[in-house]
Amino acid sequence: MAQLQMDNITVKFGGLVALSKLSFSINTAEIVGLIGPNGAGKTTVFNVLTGVYRASSGDVRFNGNSILGKRPHEIFSRGVARTFQNIRLFSAMTAVENAMVARHCRSGTGVVGAIFRTGAQRREERQIRDRALEALAFMGVDRYADTVAANLSYGLQRRLEIARAWHPSPRCSSWMNRPPA
Ligand SMILES: Nc1ncnc2c1ncn2[C@@H]1O[C@H](COP(=O)(O)OP(=O)(O)O)[C@@H](O)[C@H]1O
Ligand SMILES: [Mg+2]
Repeated sequence: MAQLQMDNITVKFGGLVALSKLSFSINTAEIVGLIGPNGAGKTTVFNVLTGVYRASSGDVRFNGNSILGKRPHEIFSRGVARTFQNIRLFSAMTAVENAMVARHCRSGTGVVGAIFRTGAQRREERQIRDRALEALAFMGVDRYADTVAANLSYGLQRRLEIARAWHPSPRCSSWMNRPPA
């Protein structure tokens, strides 16, 4: 079974048909590129996939379940994470800190633990950091872990954004799928 499947997706903006009966499927661990000239409909595909736009017909299935019509944060919690054309990193924070943010609200330590730096708090912080470093390594940017995001090249910032979206905590990072206001 394909992990991600688009079936006959049509998206219309008034009289303009942005996507016409688009179908494709992607299997687990496959890396797929979507290319096309300006206005071809690439961004529209990602917007339908993540619940920003509604398709007028067709279906999108992720791990066998339809995600069509679900809200961006619901789709995110099922494991579909995206980035946007404009980079949305925390520019004054380091690469590893950016990746840690997406995991923080899963932590159990509260304000008291954070202030007094209890053993449990430090242990938890280390776990979050280790997972973040794993994500950086997955995207080949672990050697920039302590570099401030603003100082990374555009290409490295892109990779860092994908690292941040890799196995994050759904509860604390659903903002990542939310389109710009
Ligand atoms: N929110 C929208 N309202 C009206 N038209 C849109 C909207 N979003 C995209 N389009 C139109 O849909 C077509 C595909 O756009 P888009 O998906 O952004 O293309 P790409 O990302 O491949 O450059 C274009 O003609 C674009 O003008
Ligand atoms: Mg685009």
